[in-house]
Amino acid sequence: MKIKRRQFIKKTAALASVYPVSAIADSSVISQKKSYKKKRAIVISTWQHGIPANETAWKILKNGGKAIDAVEQGVRVVESDPKSMSVGLGGRPDRDGNVTLDACIMNEHGDAGSVCFLQHIENPISVARKVMEETPHVMLAGKGALQFALANGFEKQNLLTDQAKKDWQNWLKENRYTVPINIENHDTIGTLALDQHGDLSGACTTSGLAYKMHGRVGDSPIIGAGLYVDNEVGAATATGMGELVMKTLGSFLVVELMRQGASAQAACEEAVGRIVKKLAYKNMQVGYLAIDKKGNHGAYCIHPGFNYALTRKGKTKMIDCASFKK
Ligand code: GLY
Repeated sequence: MKIKRRQFIKKTAALASVYPVSAIADSSVISQKKSYKKKRAIVISTWQHGIPANETAWKILKNGGKAIDAVEQGVRVVESDPKSMSVGLGGRPDRDGNVTLDACIMNEHGDAGSVCFLQHIENPISVARKVMEETPHVMLAGKGALQFALANGFEKQNLLTDQAKKDWQNWLKENRYTVPINIENHDTIGTLALDQHGDLSGACTTSGLAYKMHGRVGDSPIIGAGLYVDNEVGAATATGMGELVMKTLGSFLVVELMRQGASAQAACEEAVGRIVKKLAYKNMQVGYLAIDKKGNHGAYCIHPGFNYALTRKGKTKMIDCASFKK
């Protein structure tokens, strides 16, 4: 129904007598913004420990916070949980009994920070963020990373819990280096978020493979392998056997495929395809997660058994990932 100009002026004048015109205008802007926000924000994380990570991240996103804060705070919860035995405190040690940690982070500006082979620090993701924000470098390793962490107020502590020590001592009895896939259904935590402002960030952190060789570094702290974020396109993260991800620079590949027009799902499938076409993958798992700039997500892995946590509109659900092998 057409409203005549005179009627429109009358209606507007009536409303203005109750609400100042600026308030009418403001409230419509606010309601538009609200529906935009609710539709768009998303957080996605690898494995079951993705649930507490997402829940923490969502508290930041729902209040209009930044994706970079959401992903950092989300993965910190898992790093600090001694029951999560593949990340941070309580992580399984290398074959010599040392807990060595890898982590990286990327923000919406394409800035990146990373630490690898870091010992004695519970939250390597926050050290990686400091590297990103307060140094001219991207990656610090080993003793240098520890020195930087201590100089920036992080506390030195023993990360080898009684349980992890007991498991390692049992492993030493056989001293057989095999890597069971989907071990206890947990591994690296990779978290990606799109915030209400439309900005993307990601974080990735792990203690790496249980009983790895001393000095081994996996994909998780390597920008483009364990994590990649391009705020114009999308973000991706990886879990599983880091060597396969590093050889194919998996997360960068996923984002580049999205840049060329692939959906987040198709890009994850193609990145797994690269591995299975070229590399021996029989007893090795790799899983990718991706989100695009509009908040669509994708996920794909080699073998069944990988799952991930997805949060939208405040609701978190676990999803079993589609896999190349059935
Ligand atoms: N994806 C974790 C690692 O291979 O270290």
